[in-house]
Formats: sequence, structure tokens, C-alpha cells
Amino acid sequence: MKPRPGRKNVRKPWAGRFTQSTDPTAERFTGSLAFDRRLWPWDITGSVAWAKALGRAGLLTASERDTIVRGLDAVREELATGTFPFRPELEDIHTNVERRLHDLVGDVAGKLHTGRSRNDQIALDERLYLKDVAARVAEGLRRVQEALVARAAETVEAPLPGYTHLQRAQPVVLAHHLLAYVFMLQRDRERFRDAAARADVLPLGAAALAGTAFPIDREALAQDLGFAAVSPNSLDAVSDRDYVLEFLAAGALAGMHLSRLAADLTLWATAEFGFVEFSDAFATGSSIMPQKKNPDVAELIRGKSGRLYGNLVAVLTTMKGLPLAYNSDMQEDKEPFFDSVDTLEAIVGVLPPLLATLTFRTDRMRRAAGEHFSTATDLADYLVRKGLPFRQAHEVVGRLVRYALDEGKTLEDLTLPEFRRFSPLIDDDVKDAITVEASLRARAVTGGTAPAAVRRTLALARTLIAHG
Ligand code: ARG
Repeated sequence: MKPRPGRKNVRKPWAGRFTQSTDPTAERFTGSLAFDRRLWPWDITGSVAWAKALGRAGLLTASERDTIVRGLDAVREELATGTFPFRPELEDIHTNVERRLHDLVGDVAGKLHTGRSRNDQIALDERLYLKDVAARVAEGLRRVQEALVARAAETVEAPLPGYTHLQRAQPVVLAHHLLAYVFMLQRDRERFRDAAARADVLPLGAAALAGTAFPIDREALAQDLGFAAVSPNSLDAVSDRDYVLEFLAAGALAGMHLSRLAADLTLWATAEFGFVEFSDAFATGSSIMPQKKNPDVAELIRGKSGRLYGNLVAVLTTMKGLPLAYNSDMQEDKEPFFDSVDTLEAIVGVLPPLLATLTFRTDRMRRAAGEHFSTATDLADYLVRKGLPFRQAHEVVGRLVRYALDEGKTLEDLTLPEFRRFSPLIDDDVKDAITVEASLRARAVTGGTAPAAVRRTLALARTLIAHG
């Protein structure tokens, strides 16, 4: 096939065995430069280390090695300053960098790819990139934790209705609710750290699939590139993408946690709840309804969990049933991977200031916390302390609640004679046992919502965030 008019006739690195040039539709279809170009910093780092390894193996003279390394430095500079001439017809970032190196240093550039394949090269780039972004996302999650802890410190004594089945259940303090998310995010940070630790294995030297045929000191190469270990099987090294999947799984879980936080805030901002108000800076208006203030940021955090799940499922599905070793299908891992990185970074960027500028309507929370028989369990516990087995106490209080509902009264409205109609164990001290404060104070167990317990948990959270 003749090159189409207007297209540059670029010689591919693999052109030797071909007699026709690539059809432009195929070229566009197979090209990955549009998305894998973001890997350039790690691609160049890998190539510099490879040039040094080739030098150590006697495959490059010291001067050839220096020329290549200096050339790669110049390419890096062009990429960093935005002057690099990207050529989409050269398929991917690896070929772009290598061809540019050739433009700059001449034929010696052709020695760089000795004993290396794009198959181990891409696995290397991805693992290096993953270690960086996992640390970045984890740090972003840490900042979200810090923002939550700051708000928790202000609200250790602020009662809030706790819910099960989205029905008012028992009072908690607002700090307790916020700290729940701090511990979820702590596990998310650990998952990113674990994923990065398992990705910390050098694939370079696996070459296309069978291992490089040159005497490369892979241990020295690993040390040079900051890897903790060397892949023990070349087929595994170029075939698996489990490291991407672990990152995506950690991202899906973090997205799930963050969607629940965002959903809480969205619900709390309704007129029906009225527990929270978003700062104007983190809300938007309606194009038709002048009175509206919409919690868009929180809604989108909730919504973005969808793409985080989708990205995980996309790559799992792509990888399923692929024969060893490398297959082009695996190029499809990049867009989902990068999308999850970008999505997570966007969420952890916007959440800390959003949280810092929330107004908590603690007066409304406090009132709601005492409504709807929220301390009925405390009344049952009171009877238990007077000697009644819990199951019987539950029954007594159930009947009391039924009675109060029929009379249109709250527990606090009931007189002592009314109480005593249901159990002679009830005395004057019952009034103090069923206040919101008493209910909170009683839950002083480790991990409970008593302000004293929450203060200890807050201290623990601060330690985890500072050191963990
Ligand atoms: N663009 C490829 C990928 O993302 C790089 C490895 C290509 N190897 C190959 N033989 N085509 O997976």
C-alpha cells in the first residue's frame, strides 16, 4: 500500500519484515501515544538505567553509554518543557522517545534497545508510575483524614442521631460519625501501600517473554531503579497486570467509602435533615430555580465511585483468559488505570477544603438526637441494671413506647406513675438515665460514642495519620 498523500512516511522500528506501510486506520487504532505519553518520566528513567546496565554488561562503551544518557537527559528536558515533537505515527511513548534520541545523538541510539522489549519496558514504566501515584493518592487520603479529624475535634460533645435502616436508632456524637470515615480511609491508605509494595518488583530483563540473552545484572538494575526485588519469572513479569488491578481495587474501595461520606453530606444538606450547610464555594446553583443551592461536589464524589468500579471491572475483564505471555489486549489497561488515578486525585483534592468549610447545624442535630425514643435502649439497660433480664426489659420498654405513641407523648413526658405501670423497678432516677447525655456517656467502651471514649479514639486517629 502506498503512503496516503499528506501523511509522513515514517519508518517503524519493526519495518524490516514488512513490504507495506500501515493503513492509517490501523495506525490510529493501535496507537497508544495519546494516553501512554504520560508515562514519559518513568520511561526515560528506565532507559537511563538500562543504558547503564548495558554498559556494565560490556554492550556499550563508556562513551556510548554517556552519549545515550546525555541524549536521554535532553529528551527529558524537551518533554518537561513541552517542546518535545510528539509523533503519533510512532505508535507509543517508547518509540517516540527512542526515535527522538536517535535524532539527537545519531546511530548509537540504536543500541539502547539491545536485549530489551517494549513488553518488559511497559511493565517497568507502569510499576514505577504505580509506586509514585499510589503514594500520591495515599497522601491525598491522609489529607482527607486530617480534615475529618479537625472537624471531629470540634464536635466530640455534639449529639447527632445515629441511624440503622435510615431510621433514628441511638444518639452518637458527630465526631464519632466523622471518625468512622477516618478509619475506613486508613485501611484504604494501607491498601494503596500494600499494592505499591507488591508492585515493587523489577520486570526489566524479562525482555519479550523469555528473558534477555545478555549478561545483565538485574540485581544492580533493581537497585539503580529503587526496586525491592527482581521478578523471578520472565513470563510472569511481562504477562500479568495484577499490580494495576490491585491499585484499581484499592481505588474502587476508597471510592466506595468516599461515596458514602458524600452521600451522608448530601442527605444532611436536605431541608428534611438540615444538619449541614455547604459553603457557597462548594455548591452550585440552578439555571432555572433561583432559590436552589445544590451539593454538586458531594454528588459528583458519590457518582465517581461508578467509574472507579468500572475501571476495575474493565481491566479484570480484559485480562481474563488471556494466554501467556504478552498480548496487545493488555494495552487496554492504561486508560482505566489513568482514569482512576485522575479521579482519585480529583476527589482527594476537593474534599479537604469542602470539609473544612462545612457548617454543621449542631442545634438541629442535637434536637433530632433526642427525638423518636432514641434512648429507649437506655431505658431497657436501666431495667437490666435493676436486675431484669434484657429480653424482658426489651418487652417492657416496647410496651411503654407503644403507650407513649398512643398518648402522643415522649419518654421524657411520662410521669413516674405512668412508668411504674409497666415496671415497679422504675424509680425517680429513670429521668437521668434516659437523657441524650446519659445515653452517650454510658457508651464509654473502647470504640464507643461516649465523649470520653471518642477523645481517646481521636488521639489514636491522630497518631495513625501522623505515623501510619
Ligand atoms: N503499548 C503497549 C502496551 O501498552 C506496550 C507494549 C507493546 N508491545 C508490543 N509488542 N506491541 O502494552
